[in-house]
Amino acid sequence: MVGIDKINFYTPNTYIKLEELANYRGVDPDKFTIGIGQSKMSVPPISQDTVSMAANAAYPLLTKNDLNNIDLIVVGTETGVDESKSVASFIHQLLDIHPFAKSVDLKQACYGATAGLMMAVDFVRLHPDKKALVIGSDISRYGLNSSGEVTQGAGAIAMIISSSPSILEIEEVSVSMTKSIFDFWRPNYSKTAIVDGKFSNEAYISFFSELWHEYKNRTARSFEDFSAFCFHLPYTKMGKKALMPLLDAEAPNNKDLLLEHYQLSTTYSRDIGNIYTGSLYLSLMSLLESTLSSLKENQRIGFFSYGSGAVAEIFSGKLVPGFKDALLTKQHDTLLNDRISLSIDSYTDMFNDELAIDSEGNHLFKQDKTDNGVFFFKGVENHQRLYGKNKE
Ligand code: CAA
Repeated sequence: MVGIDKINFYTPNTYIKLEELANYRGVDPDKFTIGIGQSKMSVPPISQDTVSMAANAAYPLLTKNDLNNIDLIVVGTETGVDESKSVASFIHQLLDIHPFAKSVDLKQACYGATAGLMMAVDFVRLHPDKKALVIGSDISRYGLNSSGEVTQGAGAIAMIISSSPSILEIEEVSVSMTKSIFDFWRPNYSKTAIVDGKFSNEAYISFFSELWHEYKNRTARSFEDFSAFCFHLPYTKMGKKALMPLLDAEAPNNKDLLLEHYQLSTTYSRDIGNIYTGSLYLSLMSLLESTLSSLKENQRIGFFSYGSGAVAEIFSGKLVPGFKDALLTKQHDTLLNDRISLSIDSYTDMFNDELAIDSEGNHLFKQDKTDNGVFFFKGVENHQRLYGKNKE
């Protein structure tokens, strides 16, 4: 049995209330909170980037045993910090993982962390005495006053994959699908994503529908074989838009259960926003850590991973006995409740704050006083990114 042994997320300490943003933009707040289904949006200071957020997500999970037995570090990201050097190689050093591990990034929009999870599961199946660290870390940026603005966010998830998982066994059956399309993308020269909003929604919905039919044909499973379904959530209404039409033919009990669990899986995303690669796994934590969840050991959870461009996968996992004891529910509650609400001006300043590297390749700055991350980005010296670690 191979699967998720530990799981955590990190999001920066600052956010904006979407009701305030709606009022400022002259939009009916219900559009953001009901129509889109988002309440708050994490806003990263310049001192939290893809690397530091990834390190902050993984750090609390790691024991000495993990540091000595993680032979693979794989990071899914679409907002990496270098065209050549991997985020995973920074993580290897910051977390002090033993030297004989391999470290690599995978990219396919929001699907990257799922590709990493599948790679890690295969790796541990072949090497059951070893572990793998899988991370998804991203900052979602569409631009101030753009239609995608309300679906921005920032954060990272980290998972340890082992052959004695405490949370979720990943099952072997899965079905993937690829179609090269331009629904959402970010050319190398652009700091913000380009999106065909309506088409991206349609693509997401049709990928889920086509993939589900293929999955059903190949596995002979139906929705009755699942106690819950977790989705990649660019915003919390998206998964429901894809799921609802397929539930029409379901028995009312089963339909109600899946919709109830869907709702519980959206709580964290509603208050953080789109974290791209980590979003699906944030949904899993939101579901499992909810006090309202009735999920029990051995029950099956389905997953829909979607990365624009586009690649998707449906896979499944079974809850391991005692899974609740392995969750970091309390820590997540504290992380989300202790955050600082930004004014519109501070949000705008943070969004526009960027590296201003001099001709020698330097720009160093102090950690923002609102930033409480253990790991933080210090700036660039001689074109090399530097990271700091606070004492806990
Ligand atoms: N009260 C309640 N609801 C309201 C409302 C009001 N006053 N005003 C509008 N609404 C509803 C609309 O009816 C609509 O509901 P439905 O979707 O159920 O029809 C919803 O609010 C959104 O309204 P619009 O479609 O008019 O919104 P928009 O055109 O401004 O933009 C968006 C929405 C396309 C999602 C845009 O935010 C966007 O481009 N986001 C980024 C792209 C994205 O997230 N795509 C999702 C799939 S791609 C993916 O999954 C990969 C990824 O991570 C990016």
